[in-house]
Amino acid sequence: MLKFELRIISRASIFRNAKPGSWACGPCRRANPRPFLNRGYATEATPGAKPKPYYVTTPIFYVNAAPHIGHLYTILIADILKRWQVLLGNGDAKLLTGTDEHGMKIQQAALQNGLEPQALCDRNCETFKVLAKEANISNDHFIRTTDSAHKQAVQFFWENLNHRGYIYEGKHEGWYSVSDETFYPSSAVQPTLDPATGRKMMASIETGKEVELSQETNYHFKLSAFQDRLLKHYKENPNFIRPQVYMDSIVQNVSSGLQDLSISRPVDRLSWGIPVPGDSTQTIYVWLDALVNYITYAGYPFTPGHEDKSIWPADVHVVGKDITRFHCIYWPAFLMALDLPLPRTILTHAHWTMNHSKMSKSTGNVVNPMFAMARYGVDPMRFYLAMNGGLASDTNYDNSFIVRDYKHSLQFGLGNLCSRMMRGKGWNIRECVIAVTGSNDKLRVEGTEELDHRAFLEEAPVLVSKQMDELNPRRALEEIMRIIEQTNKYVQDAAPWRLAKMTDDPKSSERLTGVVYNTAESLRIAGILLQPFMPGKAKELLDKLGVEQDIKKRSFTAATYGFDLDYGTPSEPLGEGKKGTLFPPLLTED
Ligand code: MSP
Repeated sequence: MLKFELRIISRASIFRNAKPGSWACGPCRRANPRPFLNRGYATEATPGAKPKPYYVTTPIFYVNAAPHIGHLYTILIADILKRWQVLLGNGDAKLLTGTDEHGMKIQQAALQNGLEPQALCDRNCETFKVLAKEANISNDHFIRTTDSAHKQAVQFFWENLNHRGYIYEGKHEGWYSVSDETFYPSSAVQPTLDPATGRKMMASIETGKEVELSQETNYHFKLSAFQDRLLKHYKENPNFIRPQVYMDSIVQNVSSGLQDLSISRPVDRLSWGIPVPGDSTQTIYVWLDALVNYITYAGYPFTPGHEDKSIWPADVHVVGKDITRFHCIYWPAFLMALDLPLPRTILTHAHWTMNHSKMSKSTGNVVNPMFAMARYGVDPMRFYLAMNGGLASDTNYDNSFIVRDYKHSLQFGLGNLCSRMMRGKGWNIRECVIAVTGSNDKLRVEGTEELDHRAFLEEAPVLVSKQMDELNPRRALEEIMRIIEQTNKYVQDAAPWRLAKMTDDPKSSERLTGVVYNTAESLRIAGILLQPFMPGKAKELLDKLGVEQDIKKRSFTAATYGFDLDYGTPSEPLGEGKKGTLFPPLLTED
């Protein structure tokens, strides 16, 4: 457990630096304080009212360096969750991503680059915007912590914490890590050798990042006052932190005691940030600033009387395991202090490693996601990351595994099944769909193998949905790929190409119809379910299968055996050669 060692030397008024009579905290300044300051906030929609839109967030990215595969992974998981909601019919689901632009890390990076911090942020935030666009991320907004609306939200947030008596001034002594943007107590640091240069330094035991001793007077948040409330919240909301392993570790940390938190830094050390309201000698701590982004987008400060119009609380914050403390302890405590609703779930994932060490821009062992997508394709990369990335366990990034997955699951699995079905000479998918669904009230599918496969297809979407409910996209994707695997076996055994030759045997042609229909249904159902994971390839597949573009025909409900009576005529030519294959051979196969 990390504890902050505070020596409180003064409880001097927060107003110390305010010009007499000129400054008071915002809430006091207002003649009519905002009503929501003193009221609880309805987290649940009133009965009968339209539920608020589903809201999922990614962490916001530091702009001191370029994006890497770990960043793409975190944003991808959030995108899959949002797209899944859209598939379920929640078309107003929202996804927020963006950049974290203040703090020591950015201040130092700007200095090293000979740029003004704002210029560095303007330049580097673009790389994250491009990443989101190139990776086909469906974010509804891209927030920057240098946006003026956000700065105002943070200052308002601060003023309210202060107004409620949760902020005090004190002397702080601790080890600060610029890389982690956090203070560590002396029990959490140790002498070590810089792996790159051999230089002796002090570093965090948890992250290995260099720390420097600092003594300063700054503002503190009364985090220690929230220990019991936090523990109660964890207990009453077992899904608050997922997977369970992270919940267990946070509960253990909080149970062992919380120290108050330093939430500002003297401006002569940190000038690149949001000034503390009423005290121009202090800059707001970057993590407090950054966490507020989630409510800035939701409209904070919420308009009195219109709180229920907000998308807050977030349904899911997706975060990497290195930032659970900030999201699972500090953030809920800040929100509790203001009686604001807490996010419903913090979905935590493990790390991507390179040669079994965490991929990180400060270590330099990073993979550029833009190069990887250019090399293997956007959807194959989305597939590889979603299929291999872990929530509880780290995954080692390996090009040979990307190629392995591409060939095995996509090219020879899904791609091959499509080609077999759509290019088969002895049948016509549309005719088989009409033959089986024609009578409308009863699907004409007979024979043990066909009925077994039908039963399998009826069950498969339920299993996928169960995994998505559990917020486990990887397991959900495995279930979808099971449809492909199972159907390939089914087609292999049924050998429709042989049945198609037995034209004078009525039983064979009847079976052929059933086999083609079942296989087309497998592809249609899998194609619909794959949309959140591989939106581009899933669209191509559904278009080739002639599934109407109408959202009703591509929704989760439509992923039901026998649902669609109208498909089977490709809405675009299948194409010849490479153009006709969903997953052409890779150009480079190392
Ligand atoms: N700015 C903070 C987040 C503030 S959220 C209010 C931050 N930024 S970051 O750029 O360092 O990291 C962004 C996300 O990428 C974090 O969730 C982090 O866990 C994730 N990853 C960074 N390296 C990673 C891997 N090697 N693997 C997987 N995810 C990793 O933290």
